[in-house]
Amino acid sequence: MLNISSVSITFNEDTQDEKKALQDIDLTLDKGDFVTVIGSNGAGKSTLMNVISGSLKPDIGIVEIDNKNVTSIPEFKRSAFIGRVFQDPMAGTAPSMTIEENLAMAYARNKRRTLRTGVNKKRKLLFIEFLETLHLGLENRLTAKVGLLSGGERQALSLLMATFTEPNILLLDEHTAALDPSRAELITNLTGEVVDKFQLTTLMVTHNMQQALDLGNRLIMMDKGQIILEVSGKEKQELTIEKLLHEFQRIRGEQMANDRAILG
Ligand SMILES: Nc1ncnc2c1ncn2[C@@H]1O[C@H](COP(=O)(O)OP(=O)(O)OP(=O)(O)O)[C@@H](O)[C@H]1O
Ligand SMILES: [Mg+2]
Repeated sequence: MLNISSVSITFNEDTQDEKKALQDIDLTLDKGDFVTVIGSNGAGKSTLMNVISGSLKPDIGIVEIDNKNVTSIPEFKRSAFIGRVFQDPMAGTAPSMTIEENLAMAYARNKRRTLRTGVNKKRKLLFIEFLETLHLGLENRLTAKVGLLSGGERQALSLLMATFTEPNILLLDEHTAALDPSRAELITNLTGEVVDKFQLTTLMVTHNMQQALDLGNRLIMMDKGQIILEVSGKEKQELTIEKLLHEFQRIRGEQMANDRAILG
């Protein structure tokens, strides 16, 4: 489904601020894989997401989706088969548009349909059906402006918009980080349900190690632009935060400098 080979990105090359954000990254995701991504600040997690979504082009290396080389395909053309939710609840939706208008916009991106944008009666029923799955009562607020929703509500809507078109790949970049614990838990649970329902191939960046352990069938740990640890299947099920921290120390010879990850 997704194949990344030998991808490197260096920012500000040959200057004092040179930063090797990704160094020779190889990663293959099979259809339905749900990979959680952890690593300290600046490890290269968001850069990896940007390379997959097409908002950044790698200096070296190839990105393939469904056996198609998309390395040079711009972000707006990839959006039909990639769904994305950002850390910032304000980023994924248009605040001055209503809930149904936002959904119609996302619906129009759907790779499997060629309908025009807009809201008709049949589609409205479909939107209501989808909103009901969130259990937030948003189905009764179709004409409410999205800017009036709470962060958690917006993030739930963003998740719905990113997924109800059944993208080939779902990218989640700390999409629960800005929410209070109970909302974060709600969105975490919704994520698990949605990914499961559509069998989406998913990469989820999180600072919350427990969340990284609870969700998904695979886990990768990044550090200094590299993938330093990959765990999957039964080994992942048996993983604990203590083991993860121990592994980091064993690989890097130092303690992980990230309180948020440990506490999270
Ligand atoms: N556009 C850019 N220009 C220059 N440097 C950048 C740019 N984008 C990212 N970087 C640098 O590349 C490194 C990796 O950044 P990235 O955002 O991928 O980290 P991250 O793992 O997502 O961190 P965080 O957990 O803080 O979100 C960082 O040192 C960052 O400062
Ligand atoms: Mg980031």
